[in-house]
Amino acid sequence: MKEYVLITGAGSGIGLEMAKKLAAKNFNLILVARSEDKLFSLQKDLKDRYDIDVTYLLYDLSEPNSALDLYNEIQRNHYLVTGLINNAGFGDYGNFFEMPLKKDEEMIAVNITALVGLTKLFGADMIKAGKGRIMNVASLLAFLPFPYYSVYSATKSFVLAFTETISAETEGKGVFITALCPGPVETPFHTDAMRRTNAMSANKPMSADVVAEAGIKLFLYGNGKKVVDFMNWFLSNLPRITPDKWMMKIKKNLASIKK
Ligand SMILES: NC(=O)c1ccc[n+]([C@@H]2O[C@H](COP(=O)([O-])OP(=O)(O)OC[C@H]3O[C@@H](n4cnc5c(N)ncnc54)[C@H](OP(=O)(O)O)[C@@H]3O)[C@@H](O)[C@H]2O)c1
Repeated sequence: MKEYVLITGAGSGIGLEMAKKLAAKNFNLILVARSEDKLFSLQKDLKDRYDIDVTYLLYDLSEPNSALDLYNEIQRNHYLVTGLINNAGFGDYGNFFEMPLKKDEEMIAVNITALVGLTKLFGADMIKAGKGRIMNVASLLAFLPFPYYSVYSATKSFVLAFTETISAETEGKGVFITALCPGPVETPFHTDAMRRTNAMSANKPMSADVVAEAGIKLFLYGNGKKVVDFMNWFLSNLPRITPDKWMMKIKKNLASIKK
């Protein structure tokens, strides 16, 4: 049976760059997202360039039961998933009480519910087989919850806590579960408002290619969590040495729109 790496959110940004890097290393891929045009052209490009199998499946991971439906479709097609990258996710920027509840719920569904579901379903098979790798994409904001990114920050804190704890539970079982924590990255993730915050000029976004390189290294060979880049690592540790009151003031200033 052929082995596959499944990547959610492979149509753009970090997921797309990770797909290209895995293809170059001859991994067979299952690409998941909602936009067929992007996945179709990525599939074609990778199949033209490498001797690998690339398939794509269109799923809206904010839909209830999407993780189970996706898992069942993969079982029906007899694809053996030995690697899973839970990368799909999105954020929003603004005052929590002025933002639509529906968007918050969709964010929780994609960033948390689908990620937990896919990890449980594919991870259980990997544990049975005694082999597998899962990487969950968290964020620098998992360490530094930012005002105006309240629900998003909280989803990423969840992802990090969840990943670190289940990784400890699976120790010695041949399955490695890691968390990638990028700082700002130049991708379509950012809304216009996000691009105008002080944080974006203070900590310039990294390229998706560089972040994907760190991600693939962690996914294939690493352990634990990886905060990408020294500056982001330093920022992730700032709360340890800074009083809470100051920390929130600094973060509020960084998250504010530049005047
Ligand atoms: N960019 C940053 O600064 C940054 C920093 C830290 C962490 N991250 C995290 O990195 C991951 C990748 O983000 P990115 O920056 O590469 O952003 P991106 O370019 O916007 O990519 C997000 C991917 O997720 C997919 N996606 C979004 N909603 C989905 C849904 N409901 N169902 C299925 N797929 C969905 C998108 O495809 P479709 O729209 O076609 O579905 C797209 O392929 C996310 O988890 C994000 O939170 C990003």
